Amino acid sequence: MRIQSMKIKGFRNLKGIDLSFEEGIPIHAFVGSNGQGKTNILEAIYLCSLSKSFRTRASGDLVGFEEAFSSVKIDTDEEKLEVIITAKPSQKVLKVNGVKKSATDFIGNLKAVFFSPDDLANMSYAPKLRRRYLDIVLSQLNRGYLVKLMEYNGACKQRNSLLKAISEGRGDTDELDFWDEKLAQLGAYITEERLKLIDQLQTLVSGHYKEISNSSSEVSIVYESEVRGVSPKELCDLYKDGRRRDLMTCQTRLGPHRDDLKFLLADKDMAFFASRGEWRSLVLGLKFAEIDLIKELTGDNPVLLLDDVFSELDAERQKYLFDATGKSQTFITTTHKEFIDGLPTAHKAYKVKEGIVE
Ligand SMILES: Nc1ncnc2c1ncn2[C@@H]1O[C@H](COP(=O)(O)OP(=O)(O)O)[C@@H](O)[C@H]1O
Ligand SMILES: [Mg+2]
Repeated sequence: MRIQSMKIKGFRNLKGIDLSFEEGIPIHAFVGSNGQGKTNILEAIYLCSLSKSFRTRASGDLVGFEEAFSSVKIDTDEEKLEVIITAKPSQKVLKVNGVKKSATDFIGNLKAVFFSPDDLANMSYAPKLRRRYLDIVLSQLNRGYLVKLMEYNGACKQRNSLLKAISEGRGDTDELDFWDEKLAQLGAYITEERLKLIDQLQTLVSGHYKEISNSSSEVSIVYESEVRGVSPKELCDLYKDGRRRDLMTCQTRLGPHRDDLKFLLADKDMAFFASRGEWRSLVLGLKFAEIDLIKELTGDNPVLLLDDVFSELDAERQKYLFDATGKSQTFITTTHKEFIDGLPTAHKAYKVKEGIVE
């Protein structure tokens, strides 16, 4: 899959971007100093893929400070995609070929895999990033997943507010039945999808890890959950049983929003034994496995978004990255043009300055 052209207006600090990308050039590099808008460009592309940002949940943040709305239009070789966001009132409109679509029908038209230095640096200690990895891969493979996940998160918030109201003597305990039931239905589905995905990722991740790190150690991925394998009915009972405990903290303590991933390297928990370099190799392996699965299950080559990866990866890992990206259309940001000049693949560089692409 390929992006043919992109128009961005009023998106963060991006004033007006209008670019077309030639077919014979796989790598497009946005070069500029810090704070110029390079990552914002990748964020706009990502928005057309997953209908969300990788940096903020509040879509209003994406509208330029002085702007009434922001618009991102991307034409792929298959579809014309558009996202329009207004800040006040906060609204988001998603369109495919000019027709308004729900998030379910919008997500997955543009498949994109995003590499960020934050993931590379932080995955080792942030369970949220590990869960997000699974959720993002699933969202691209299964249109309904992200919508169900958002519903689940919304229901969790509602249940927590109700817990607070009850603990302050304002709420009705019977109302918890509704939220327990809803969370159980959605939660069991989310957990099951994550487990299936981990099964599919296992060998792919381990294979990439061995190549990247030049070692023979196996990686295994373990899904840590108190609710794995339980049916919606059993999960509902667990929520009911946990009410008294949840009322004390006004938090829903159980469910996929609390689950985590553990990685074993040669049977040892990486959280306790792995070096920074081993973590980097693992995160790269996870990303390559994501690309493999998207290719295998959808038949589409995802577009790659590489944010400032040169700062986090040594020369050898950079080489693995660019060998593996092959002919995939790749958008990359960097502060150092010399990194781009050294690439063996055909590429084009664009200078980004104060939100304008020169
Ligand atoms: N909603 C917004 N409106 C205008 N500017 C914004 C908005 N959000 C972020 N910015 C600006 O965007 C710039 C950061 O852009 P970014 O793409 O992260 O830079 P970099 O080139 O370092 O990747 C900062 O100057 C920030 O103030
Ligand atoms: Mg940046």
